[in-house]
Amino acid sequence: MKQDMIVILDLGSEENTVVARAIRALGVYSEIYPHDITAKELMELPNVKGVILNGGPNCVVDGVQIDVAADLYQTGIPMIAVNHPAAKCAAISLPKDEEELKDTLKNFVFDVCNAQANWNMKNFIEDQVELVKRQVGDKKVLLALSGGVDSSVVAALLLKAIGENLTCVHVNHGLMRKGESESVIEVFKNQMNANLVYVDASERFLGKLAGVADPEEKRKIIGGEFIRVFEEEARKLDGIDFLGQGTIYPDIVESGTKTAKTVKSHHNVGGLPEDLQFALVEPLRQLFKDEVRACGLELGLPHDMVFRQPFPGPGLGVRCLGAITKERLEAVRESDAILREEFAKAGLDQKVWQYFTIVPDFKSVGVRENARCFEYPVILRAVNTVDAMTATIEQLDWAVLMKITNRILKEVKNVNRVCYDLSPKPTATIEWE
Ligand code: XMP
Repeated sequence: MKQDMIVILDLGSEENTVVARAIRALGVYSEIYPHDITAKELMELPNVKGVILNGGPNCVVDGVQIDVAADLYQTGIPMIAVNHPAAKCAAISLPKDEEELKDTLKNFVFDVCNAQANWNMKNFIEDQVELVKRQVGDKKVLLALSGGVDSSVVAALLLKAIGENLTCVHVNHGLMRKGESESVIEVFKNQMNANLVYVDASERFLGKLAGVADPEEKRKIIGGEFIRVFEEEARKLDGIDFLGQGTIYPDIVESGTKTAKTVKSHHNVGGLPEDLQFALVEPLRQLFKDEVRACGLELGLPHDMVFRQPFPGPGLGVRCLGAITKERLEAVRESDAILREEFAKAGLDQKVWQYFTIVPDFKSVGVRENARCFEYPVILRAVNTVDAMTATIEQLDWAVLMKITNRILKEVKNVNRVCYDLSPKPTATIEWE
């Protein structure tokens, strides 16, 4: 293994990720594990140079004060405790200030543990390739490749590790943005030579969604159908033992750790049927989003794919409001493509967190070539946020807005009006459905 590692054991702290990131900022790799890891599991982790028992306000679980297994102290690995009075090792307190925190950790990491500052993406990838090879052997892995950042990066990493023993399935639910499925095929099949099963399920999804106007119902249909299509493909393939997943660290935190509460349950693929339970391969599970992007670039993925803006699982389905029609779906897709193109030209794609268009299910009166027309509006949305929990509006340059408006009115069929949504979150959400 290339990298040394400091393990953080979560004993109820709310600062686990802060500490992990501070250690990584020192150039040393750090991973977070639950408090009930066994001494054997700890010893099996590669190159562990030190352990931090990270206590905090969530140290009582189900009415019981949590602690680590007694034999963890016998491993001989240097340990310190933070906010954990019951610990049988030296204790420190960690300052809030980022620089002071790094200084405090420096002493433990380098002087006490003798860790080397050898954490970088190249070493991370080499280590993960080695670990995936060990886990998978010559067995086969299946991966749902949506084309999003996480699934794309995990596909590239697994491809490097196991090559033709990886099968990627890309399900086109007909709600993709313009050019998106094509780019997945181009990059993974044509350029990287991956086994890629492309399933065009557009008609099937649109059929199921016909006449369904309720947003929650739409989401349920899209999610449920996705699992069914993926499952059908999985059953066609022989001898699959593992399922690759682009789980990243924030997904784990949001799904609830053993000490922290669930924010929202997260699943990348969703509940596959009982008889299709695979063991999981999740090589990105300890990375934060910026690190996932750095990993993707190091693996040679195109910049556009790695810095793609977030895109909801139900795709354009939640931006074509109410019951989806082909006509309005086409208007969302084409207007979104124009918006993206103009944002890229203006350099706004590097600046704005998320930007897209919405087409509602009502028409308004307009005039085209001296005659009355009755057509749909397109709504533009461009927001900035840190964590998607709240969002502010990008104050777009007037000239850019006019250019986008003129192009949409000229190039997109069935549209006679363009509006800019100025609502922050709250009270609005980022998406309209
Ligand atoms: P809202 O609309 O809740 O969106 O303010 C917050 C962020 O989440 C994205 N989003 C989703 N992502 N599946 C996803 O993977 C979904 O069903 C979904 N709904 C919303 C949204 O695009 C925004 O970035």
